[in-house]
Amino acid sequence: MSDLSRTVPQEQLPSEDLHPLQMPVINLGHLSLDSATRSRVVDDIAKASRDLGYFQVINHGISQSVMDSALEAASEFFKLPSETKEKFASEELRRPVRYDTSSKDSISMSRAFLKHYAHPISEWIQYWPQEPPIYREYMGKYAAEVRRVALHLMEAILEGLGLGKEYLNEKFHEGSQLLSVNCYPKASQSATSIGLGPHSDYGFLTILLTSCQGLEVVDPSTNIWKRVQQLPHALHVHIGDHMEVLSNGRMKTVVHRALLNSEEARISIASIHGFALHEKVTCAKELVDEENPPRYKESSFSDFLDHLTANMDNKHRNFLESL
Ligand code: SIN
Ligand code: FE2
Repeated sequence: MSDLSRTVPQEQLPSEDLHPLQMPVINLGHLSLDSATRSRVVDDIAKASRDLGYFQVINHGISQSVMDSALEAASEFFKLPSETKEKFASEELRRPVRYDTSSKDSISMSRAFLKHYAHPISEWIQYWPQEPPIYREYMGKYAAEVRRVALHLMEAILEGLGLGKEYLNEKFHEGSQLLSVNCYPKASQSATSIGLGPHSDYGFLTILLTSCQGLEVVDPSTNIWKRVQQLPHALHVHIGDHMEVLSNGRMKTVVHRALLNSEEARISIASIHGFALHEKVTCAKELVDEENPPRYKESSFSDFLDHLTANMDNKHRNFLESL
């Protein structure tokens, strides 16, 4: 199985804040400057993706009002009466829109979520909630803009792997975007403090927008949970399982979880970018040689959904299969 089984610490381990988390901050605007500046940014992204599996991006071109509006649309959706939200409830993981509040995991968690596909938006938006009335417009605008950021990041990451920015272009352009919109209650003394248990994301990369703090990542150098400080106007990026496969282990998927915030309820919007449902991801042949044989079995988004269905009580863990 994957490195995950070695890196995931005990689920309930407290986080440790003695040493602040190292958080690379990438100025995405610099990708479109002269070639020397672009190369430096590409190197910084590659280093962060290799050594940590996470970083934050600033100057990404999405305005604060577009981000705030998406968070507002999400927050308004979760305030709707349960009967309205329950219309989207389903255990069928392939549904275009899915709402749920119950935790199937072995640990008790407090989260309501709405998951829906977002690319191509013209195909999926018809299934999105019509209430609150602002939902489709505000979430749609954010979805399109965050996808543009994902494309820039993917190009830079491929370049950093020496694969060239054209590598996989078509497959990525025609790929999937899943929005996972989460609502966590404010922490109470009596209840568990876990909102979402430890997992890694299946896709190439995830871009996360949050209303306040709560995200934690496993620091790969110490194997200790660390609280992520959200920088103003920044977006948080995670390397996913399929990037680990594509890079033949050079880049590492990141194990993360969400704790409840003690001050306020929390909204997060994770935009997960991968290939189309049945498209297999394999180790890039350019990164395979005698010294570096392929380390992972090929898999698709659909294989991941099958894995989730078969492991409902153990969520995303250990999806990656090593050879
Ligand atoms: C996620 O991993 O999907 C969400 C994490 C968060 O809410 O911070
Ligand atoms: Fe996640």
